[in-house]
This record gives sequence, C-alpha cells and structure tokens, in this order.
Amino acid sequence: MLERYINLLKSSQVIAFPTETVYGLGALASDAEAVRKIFEVKGRPVDNPLIVHISSRKMLDDFTDEVPDAVQTLMDAFWPGPLTFILKKKPQVLDIITAGLPTVAVRWPSHPLSQDLIERVGPIVAPSANSSGKPSPTKPEHVKEDLGDSFPIIEAGETQIGLESTVLDVTQNPFQLCRPGGVSRNQIENIIKDRIITAKTDLKNGKPKSPGMKYTHYTPEATVEWLDIKDGLNDKETLYLIHSNTFELQRENIIYFKEDYAEMAHRLFDCFRSADRKRLANVAIEPFADDILKSEPLAEALVNRISKAIG
Ligand code: TXA
Ligand code: MG
Repeated sequence: MLERYINLLKSSQVIAFPTETVYGLGALASDAEAVRKIFEVKGRPVDNPLIVHISSRKMLDDFTDEVPDAVQTLMDAFWPGPLTFILKKKPQVLDIITAGLPTVAVRWPSHPLSQDLIERVGPIVAPSANSSGKPSPTKPEHVKEDLGDSFPIIEAGETQIGLESTVLDVTQNPFQLCRPGGVSRNQIENIIKDRIITAKTDLKNGKPKSPGMKYTHYTPEATVEWLDIKDGLNDKETLYLIHSNTFELQRENIIYFKEDYAEMAHRLFDCFRSADRKRLANVAIEPFADDILKSEPLAEALVNRISKAIG
C-alpha cells in the first residue's frame, strides 16, 4: 500500500502522511530539491525550519552527536511520541531544513504508518500538511481542502492527538519550551526533575527562539474569540466550544467537551475548519481557569493554539 508513496519520495516528490499529532507534508531529509518543494507547496517562509522525523534512536546519529543524559532520559520516556527536540546539528544537515540555524529539530512519531514509511525510505522532514496560516490537518479531507483533491496522501482517518508535538530546546539551560503540545510541561519536568522555561518570542532582531513563533497560525476564516460567559450562547452565526459541564443548551452550533480535554484537542482544528465550511462568522471558546491549566496535560497547548488563532 505504501509502495506508490515510497516511489514518489524517492523521485524527489512531497507527499502527505499521518502522524499521531497531525498530518505531515513529507520529503526525504537527504534531498534538498524535494525539501524545497515543501516550502513551495505550503507557501511557507524559508526562514521557518522543519522537523526531521526518524523511526529509531540510531537514525538520530546522522543529525546530532550531542545527546546529554537528561535528553536521553526524555527520549526514553516519550519517544516514539509527540515530543520534538531542538539539538545541536551536525554540519552535514541541509541548511534548507534548519533555515541556516546551528540547531535541528527531531522527533520520532508513534503512528505505525509513519514509522513504516520512515523505516523504508529513511528520515523524512515534514511540517504540518496545511497551507501556511491554516489550522493543521487532522483528517485527509483537511489536506485536500488546502492542497487539492489529487494531492498524494496516505489516508489513515483522523489523527489521534489533534495538536502538534511539543517543541523543546535542549541546547539551552534550563531547557526551553518553544511550543506546548502533546507532551505537557509537567510530564517533562517530572522526568528530568527540573524546571523548564517558556522560550521568549524575541522579535527585536526578527529572530525569535523558534522561528515558527512569529507567524500567525491555525487561523480559520471565522473570527476566533474567547467567550464572554455573560453574552450567553445565542448568536446563530457563532460556533461555541464549551469544555466545562456548566451549560446544557442543546443546539447544533454548540459543542460540549464535558471536561474531556483530549477530545477537545482531538477536534479543535476540525471545529475551526467546520465553522468555515458552515460559513459561520465566529468561533467563541470558553476560557480556561488556572486550575484546569495546571491539572490538564493538554490545556496549555489548547490555550496556545486558540490564542494564536485569535491573533
Ligand atoms: O506534530 C508535529 O510536530 C507536526 C507533525 C507533522 O510532526 N509537525 C509540525 O511541524 O507541526 P511545523 O513545521 O508545522 O512546526 C515545527 C515548529 C515550527 O514552529 C518551527 O519554527 C520549529 O518547530 N522549529 C523547527 N526547527 C527548529 C529549530 N532548529 N529551532 C527552533 N525551532 C525550530
Ligand atoms: Mg505547522
């Protein structure tokens, strides 16, 4: 079943494939021409570097030769899975992948199909398979919406997590969280028994810690906003996303997650896109209280993606 996609990759083409987080837009990490196509297809600025996807710990050795003990411990705990490490890169890593930075982002995805694919063709670089600025795709239909019906895509239904991987810069001390995601801050701190800090978006010299931080992301056409509870849930032009158990109106444009934050993460980007399909003007999302942010592993990533969609 993968044969066709393997052949495309080997002939310098890009394809979409599933990971456990979101669909990726992949090219061979060894093929500069193919990697360049990723930027063209997505309309992505070339100063925004890409994540290398591997399928064994051994594959990492081609990209870095500095894996400190604490980092290895994190890899043992969370790989394969939704945690991306920013590491010092080996000189031979292509500049088009790293946007000329001295570091490279690497992750080992857990989806069986991505593992199979990488096993057979070698490391694959991939951003999310959306057009630049759109929400990341969690279904094959989303990829088709952005890249066209005939775009080559390994279809595997909905992705499990629904938000992108956590990006952790382990070249800094303390480690810096560049993007919250599928693995939470707490889960990381519990393993390394140390604090991590949030990377600053330092735009003064146009060079944020993680270049992706400076771009608007995840934005549907509809206006995304935090719900002001006192406004009620009465606007027919608005899709309401409610995560607490407080409200119980039954209406088509109100989605209740009933404190299931994994489900909310799983469906968030599809909700954004469905608001556009239904031509709704707004998406209003119930704000997150501090205790939820502290106790729910996916809450920080949810708030991050929603805040970015709000802009
Ligand atoms: O879950 C995911 O991570 C998905 C799936 C396909 O693996 N991929 C993904 O890739 O979300 P992308 O390109 O949409 O986001 C990668 C993020 C960007 O914010 C980018 O700036 C950052 O990682 N990044 C990549 N290389 C970096 C580096 N060397 N230093 C700092 N940030 C880096
Ligand atoms: Mg992306």
